[in-house]
Amino acid sequence: MAQFLTYFLVLISAQLVKSSGVFELKVHSFTTTSSSSVCKQSSECKGFFRVCLNYTQDVFSYRLACSDDTGLTGTFSTDQSSISTSAPITVPFNLKWLGTVLVIVEAWNTESSNDQSTENLNSMISHFATKRNLTLGEKWSQDVHIGEQSKLSFSYRVVCDEFFYGDACSDFCRPRDDPFGHFNCDAAGNRICMPEWKGEYCAEPICSPGCSEIHGYCVTPGQCMCLYGWQGPRCDECMPYPGCMHGTCKVPWQCTCDEGWRGLLCDKGQNV
Ligand SMILES: *[C@@H]1O[C@H](CO)[C@@H](O)[C@H](O)[C@H]1NC(C)=O
Ligand SMILES: *[C@@H]1O[C@H](CO)[C@@H](O)[C@H](O)[C@H]1NC(C)=O
Repeated sequence: MAQFLTYFLVLISAQLVKSSGVFELKVHSFTTTSSSSVCKQSSECKGFFRVCLNYTQDVFSYRLACSDDTGLTGTFSTDQSSISTSAPITVPFNLKWLGTVLVIVEAWNTESSNDQSTENLNSMISHFATKRNLTLGEKWSQDVHIGEQSKLSFSYRVVCDEFFYGDACSDFCRPRDDPFGHFNCDAAGNRICMPEWKGEYCAEPICSPGCSEIHGYCVTPGQCMCLYGWQGPRCDECMPYPGCMHGTCKVPWQCTCDEGWRGLLCDKGQNV
């Protein structure tokens, strides 16, 4: 019952959280003396690897992700008894499983490069399962497995998915240049605003140089548009009262007369 419950919880939580990390495995060499029944019947036989990660506890083992969830991996020729490949096989998986997982590497035979079916168990040449403590990092760990008929040497690591950063690959940064933001990402996943943009999401334009931060604004970079009551190239000049003739202002709609003038519109000479 407890085991069933664990299984159930694992199943639920695995579906809720988006994958943010990727397990990568490079096969360095693979030697086998066995071949599947499929290949005994066919002259043009190829092989491919499938990598799976299982959550494991006591006898219970639950599949987290496999390389074929996201597409086909490269095939290798089985003419030779030994192969070497270097392109990493990737398994996107959820970083919350960092810790002990079962790494399963299977070698399969296939009659064609674009058929990587794993339904017919007779096509499996060999498989290895090994418990590994996964941690996040750029460094590759080396591993060698020697079975009865096969030997596999490989290396693996766990890195963040594209656009994910941080210790838990939980910081998201994806470069964009649209109304919602104008930025690139640095190596740590910080947003780096493109020139002319500012703000947390780099969605605020930088106005023309000197544009008043209080009385001016802009909707595209390099502009300087004035709030009501202000004018001038930097929007730092108040608008005097309409009709104000020989006066000035310190705040909008004032008309403070120059020396020698008076009246509401400062249009009357002192001595008239
Ligand atoms: C991995 O988990 C699947 C079920 O999710 C199970 O069928 C398979 O046997 C497991 N593999 C190993 C090697 O335990
Ligand atoms: C896995 O490795 C990490 C870091 O190296 C360590 O802190 C942790 O205790 C290890 N877990 C197990 C189950 O060995």
